[in-house]
Amino acid sequence: MVNEQELKETVIFERKKPDVFGDAHPKALLRQIIENGEYLMPLDNQHVVSSDQFDSNTLLQLFRLAAKFESNPQRFSTPLQGKILISAFYEPSTRTRLSFESAWHRLGGDIMSITDRSTTGIAKGESLFDVGEMFNNYGDCVVLRDRDVQSLFEMIESLRIPIINAGNGIDEHPTQAMADLYTIFKWRPELVLKDVPENKKIRIGVIGVPNMMRTVRSLLKIFAIFPQAFSEVIIMHDGSNDEIFDPEQLEQLKKAGLNVTETTKVRKLITELDVIYINSIAWIGDTYTHFQEKIRLDGKTKLKESAIVLHPLARGDELSTELDETQHNWYFAQARGAVFVRMALLTCLVQRAERVIDVI
Ligand code: CP
Repeated sequence: MVNEQELKETVIFERKKPDVFGDAHPKALLRQIIENGEYLMPLDNQHVVSSDQFDSNTLLQLFRLAAKFESNPQRFSTPLQGKILISAFYEPSTRTRLSFESAWHRLGGDIMSITDRSTTGIAKGESLFDVGEMFNNYGDCVVLRDRDVQSLFEMIESLRIPIINAGNGIDEHPTQAMADLYTIFKWRPELVLKDVPENKKIRIGVIGVPNMMRTVRSLLKIFAIFPQAFSEVIIMHDGSNDEIFDPEQLEQLKKAGLNVTETTKVRKLITELDVIYINSIAWIGDTYTHFQEKIRLDGKTKLKESAIVLHPLARGDELSTELDETQHNWYFAQARGAVFVRMALLTCLVQRAERVIDVI
């Protein structure tokens, strides 16, 4: 018999099962990409530094493998059994660290996690070159986040095991860009086609500053590998920065065939977009800061009915929770899908490539 008090507690703590928005089944994307594991073989034992390293065939096969993992997580239980990941995050992270670690665990591997550089020899003056040399002996793969752009490159000098850039200062965050594009392709699988019909191409607004935000920098580079998918990529910013592109950054995107424009008239344009990718964290002075304060999406923001919102980072005031329970919320699916994209990538980097082909 439960008494009245226990009954009350049961009611209070009963979990309301939330609706999941943006949780497109990956099967449609799987069907759209013809399998060819040969494109994954060159990834064996490679470092992942920049979105620039990838081509369309490799990315599509990675997304196909990610979709397979996502469709049937039970099937691929332990391909990385006996392998050790060194997860070195010298800057705070929720999504990246935990999704990498979740991916590695799901693949059956073990993890050594460092969340504070001051607990390593770095605090005693040890060079990153030497730390990398030590890492070779202790693990099979490194995932590194560091606020300093150069740390990654210093460690690469001595590494013989693959390293993945999980965010190096304002420079790049390539696996976030992969997760972002995977989400867009799951939402609209026809965008992977070589010839996307004009009326199917999407118009996307990227709220952020490409030369100060690593997510935006890597995202634009990865979009430039699939220029046929986008009728327009509009950089939306609050006008507080004189220069929003580094020299050559915009030129590289345009040369690849991406139609990139910019605007500060965010409210006016936002109603016309298919995808809104909102970012607000940038490197300012000597710390990461939320900015773009004048831009905020909430329940009153007029969006196209079919529009989706993506947000790769820790949420600030720029994105109201009012959108969480609407069909526009694909940011939760984006965070979830990152696990499967990272599973696909880790498998290709660490497991011998011919065995990856067996898996797919
Ligand atoms: N996407 C991303 O970099 O988020 P975290 O800072 O939470 O890892």
